[in-house]
Amino acid sequence: MHTQKVTLQLFDAPPESFVGDLLVYLVEEDIPHVADADESLLRLLAQIRDTGDFKGAKEEVFLVYPGLIDGETNQRVQAKRLLFVGLGKQNENIHVRREQLRLSGGAVAKQAGAVKAKDVLVVLPKDYLLDAIEIAQCVSEGLLLGNYRFDLYKNPKEGDDAPVTVERFLLSAGSLAVSAVRKGLERGRILAEATNAARDMANQPGNGWTPAEFADYAKRLAKKPRLKCKILDKSDLQKLKMGGILGVNQGSALPPFLVILEYKTEKKHPTILLVGKGLTFDSGGICAKPPAGMEDMKYDMCGGAAVLAVMQAIAEIGIAGINVVGLIPATENLSGSAALKPGDVIRHYGGKTSEIINTDAEGRLILADALAYGIDVYHPQAVVDLATLTGAVIIGLGHHYTGLMSNSEQLATQLTEAGAQVSEPLWRLPLGPEYRKQIDSRVADIKNAGSDRSAGTITAACYLQEFVGETPWAHLDIAGTAWDFTEKSYIPKGPSGTGVRTLVACLSQWQPLKPVDNKH
Ligand code: BES
Ligand code: ZN
Ligand code: ZN
Repeated sequence: MHTQKVTLQLFDAPPESFVGDLLVYLVEEDIPHVADADESLLRLLAQIRDTGDFKGAKEEVFLVYPGLIDGETNQRVQAKRLLFVGLGKQNENIHVRREQLRLSGGAVAKQAGAVKAKDVLVVLPKDYLLDAIEIAQCVSEGLLLGNYRFDLYKNPKEGDDAPVTVERFLLSAGSLAVSAVRKGLERGRILAEATNAARDMANQPGNGWTPAEFADYAKRLAKKPRLKCKILDKSDLQKLKMGGILGVNQGSALPPFLVILEYKTEKKHPTILLVGKGLTFDSGGICAKPPAGMEDMKYDMCGGAAVLAVMQAIAEIGIAGINVVGLIPATENLSGSAALKPGDVIRHYGGKTSEIINTDAEGRLILADALAYGIDVYHPQAVVDLATLTGAVIIGLGHHYTGLMSNSEQLATQLTEAGAQVSEPLWRLPLGPEYRKQIDSRVADIKNAGSDRSAGTITAACYLQEFVGETPWAHLDIAGTAWDFTEKSYIPKGPSGTGVRTLVACLSQWQPLKPVDNKH
């Protein structure tokens, strides 16, 4: 938890003059020169390479104490420690290059933690494939995401065991243009802080992050320019006949909310709607989940957390050309005496009825109301929802790809490209009438779960598709990636904040969509 916020700034003097704990150079594998390093430093690096202990491979680190060695480097470098961090082999793929920079930033943060450094300066590498803005952005993301930890509920240790955390990361532009570095640093900082905010929300236990906390965070965010917040409470949801959110909420003692954040630029611009599953704890309801691992269901609000974080980031960056609306249906799924039961029939916003087959398939129920309402009220050009929706997506894709389902080729392509840029890869699954048939009900318009477990991720998406009509829509099933995502130097165990950087990238480079272009 970012109780003590780390700062990230530009360092505008020669790196050797930095009198801090850790001075870092990023080193390409097999390339002898390093940006802004003098002859003595390059000689030292060559000697280190000769030992065979460090070659500049991805995430490789080598620590030197200049005070303990004789010679020029010792006289010139003022920092307490010198760290070489590998970038890996130069690679022509621009996505790989961005990722190398993020990974190196994460490796710096890890090493800073290991030596208890408070003040860290990173010299940025030379321009290669990416411009200075992106280089500074990616390294900044890696540093701040890699530095993340959550210790809100741990009493602080004392004495030698007292935790030391980085207070200041500094970037030296090296051979890059300072104004561009400043811009990239700022963008990287905003993205990493928003992603870390989403991680914080998810790391909170179910009794620390309830639907009311979603509403409070949104109200606080609305102080930012261009952001407006509306909170629909239980009585509003009743008036609007949102039987999905209300039905799931029946077993819980805490009231539900539909949290709305609007980012407004100009009326003439198209609106993009984001919807995030804000299920603050999923016990399964009457169809209870097995106890082993049930504690992880406090993470069932990661889609909602990502949507709040995206709204935070776009307001801070000030993206132009589109309006964005974020909706978060928020409730717990518990089994109080009024809880929804298998066989019950609910009526969603807009009138569609649904037979409850499994009370654990609750995410689609709360999303359906939010999707139908959002489309009705905001007439968006496109809708993207994010949800920890199905265990089945973990069986299919593991913890490495987010599942993508969409009725629009164009939207699917834009999202896939954005995901690749930020190394949050998406894999598309099909939709279609053969899957949709699996949720036909004998007693209602649809049922909330198929009769068998086949294609569970797709049938869940089919349920959502019933509520989007012809609007271009994409569904991201983040059940496998919202936590325990592919572990890396800048992605910790636990919540990853996935989706935040993908959506901000997608929205920042938004291409207008044609109406639905295929009939998936
Ligand atoms: N929140 C779960 C999905 C989930 C499971 C996310 C495991 C992450 C890890 C969702 O509400 C759920 O329980 N889905 C059911 C649907 C089924 C009953 C049709 C599932 O996936 O088992
Ligand atoms: Zn569930
Ligand atoms: Zn759930």
